[in-house]
Amino acid sequence: MQTMLEIKLSKNALKVLEARYLKRDAERRIIETPEELFHLVAGCIAQGEAMWVSPQQIDHWRREYLELMTSLDFLPNSPTLMNAGKPLGQLSACFVLPVEDSMEGIFEAVKQMALVQRTGGGTGFSFSRLRPKGDLVASTSGEASGPVSFMKIFDCATENIKQGGKRRGANMGVLRVDHPDIMEFITAKLDGVTLQNFNISVGATDTFMKALEQDSDYELIHPRTGKCVGRLRANAVFDTIVHAAWRTGDPGLLFLDTINRSNPTPRVGEIEATNPCGEIPLLPYESCNLGSINLSRMIHERQGHPSVDWQKLRATVRKAIRFLDDVIEAGRYPIPEIERMTKSNRKVGLGLMGFAELLIRLGVSYASPEAVTVAENIMRFIDEESLAISQELAAERGVFPNWKGSVYEDRGIQLRNATRTAIAPTGTISIIAGTSAGIEPLFALAYKRSHVLDGQTLYELNPLLLEYLARYGLDTNKIIPEILERGGLKDVDGIPGEIKRLFVTSLEIPFEQHLRIQAAFQRHVDNSVSKTINLPHDTAPSLVAEAYRQAWEMGLKGITIYRYGSKQTQVLELGVGE
Ligand code: CDP
Repeated sequence: MQTMLEIKLSKNALKVLEARYLKRDAERRIIETPEELFHLVAGCIAQGEAMWVSPQQIDHWRREYLELMTSLDFLPNSPTLMNAGKPLGQLSACFVLPVEDSMEGIFEAVKQMALVQRTGGGTGFSFSRLRPKGDLVASTSGEASGPVSFMKIFDCATENIKQGGKRRGANMGVLRVDHPDIMEFITAKLDGVTLQNFNISVGATDTFMKALEQDSDYELIHPRTGKCVGRLRANAVFDTIVHAAWRTGDPGLLFLDTINRSNPTPRVGEIEATNPCGEIPLLPYESCNLGSINLSRMIHERQGHPSVDWQKLRATVRKAIRFLDDVIEAGRYPIPEIERMTKSNRKVGLGLMGFAELLIRLGVSYASPEAVTVAENIMRFIDEESLAISQELAAERGVFPNWKGSVYEDRGIQLRNATRTAIAPTGTISIIAGTSAGIEPLFALAYKRSHVLDGQTLYELNPLLLEYLARYGLDTNKIIPEILERGGLKDVDGIPGEIKRLFVTSLEIPFEQHLRIQAAFQRHVDNSVSKTINLPHDTAPSLVAEAYRQAWEMGLKGITIYRYGSKQTQVLELGVGE
């Protein structure tokens, strides 16, 4: 029986739900309410309990999960919301697929990509195993065309697959820095036309980063023979990376050795790639489902002072991890290899959204050292609680099947999930929850959001700012047009310093602070952290170089930068006046 629910959804949240999530009939008319959607998702995920608990307990968890989502305390990744209880039934956002060095292997990967993307999942690939351009093809005595050329086939296939009619496919393409075709890879997207359905990342090794420090050469390795086939100066390669990233945002860097140092199952395989936005390093054929806690709802007031509601956060983490573990049981898998690998490691990625809003409500500026402390405290807590509940689940349901031989066996920790935490971008679910995305600072106080939904443009003025302007008794009629025009508060007269301090926006924050925040989260996240280091348009390339270097020194698993205005189409634009 369905009860009436009170879900506080904003206008933009409703627009997103209608455009992408709610069920439609053959005439494309919407035939589902948001309440019905959440009922369906909760019922489907609670069925993941069926193997271990009684029907009454399944119903108990159905109600718990319903409350968890409709309160907007927590939301799972888009595929879970879109597909749970529906025919596709594929619930995960993140996949990595292997690309073997043969015609069969390459086209098998293209097919598998199509099967994943039509369900709304994003795919990552390492192309490092493919023989370089010009290499011999024995069967035809011809010349190989190399990884970049084959990537274009993946790109073209993605262009033509609409994900279940709901979102376009996203890919991550990785090439090791010691692959002979690395220079072609680095510059592949510079024309603004090629590989537009890919984020590309150079797989940087410690050897490369040290060669860079010492201004020396490093070896290029033939992927089939393992032999050295040439040398490049690390600085020259790094310079090309930096200039390409400065011009277009690509490539990012993935620090492969850092990633593999925290690979929980090194005996099962080495990690070579991540999902499209970088937050989940995965073995070939692994998938991972994500969920994010809405930090703006984890605050309480004590004697007029807002603080983190640790008790509520603890309860939310416990339910969320259980939910994500149930998703693994409740989901359907596009191919059997993915089901097998996913159920062997049982990786989940619990993270958060609304970090910027939390800071504002606590009276902390994102640009201050206290923000780093808050990040560290919050994530340490989520990590510890996630570990505890995964241990409890292991006691009830058994450890993840690859636990034997994992780093957790070595440490004597019995766990249900090989990984538990990640920071996702929360690009769409944060709109549904009505809070700031992931761990990002506010991008702008007023902005136009285009290209997110096909053909639709959303105009947004931060509601939190409106609340603060009203609190200070400011004449919003006079101030709002100025903010809309400028996209920020900096040059607007009559705004108190306190508001300017709290409502600091992404491009006003120095890159070092962006990195410090990312690093604070990474210290307590066992997967990775999705973060864009947003830079003003007039940033010099040397600053990009500095950011990339520091990211490795700080122990980050990867880095992505974006210089404002460096792409012709971008998701977020400052201001609304044009
Ligand atoms: O908010 P939502 O759950 O829709 O997604 P997100 O947190 O912005 O992105 C999480 C992951 O979903 C990404 O890292 C990709 O693996 C996948 N994704 C995708 O496949 N296609 C997109 N258009 C967006 C995200």
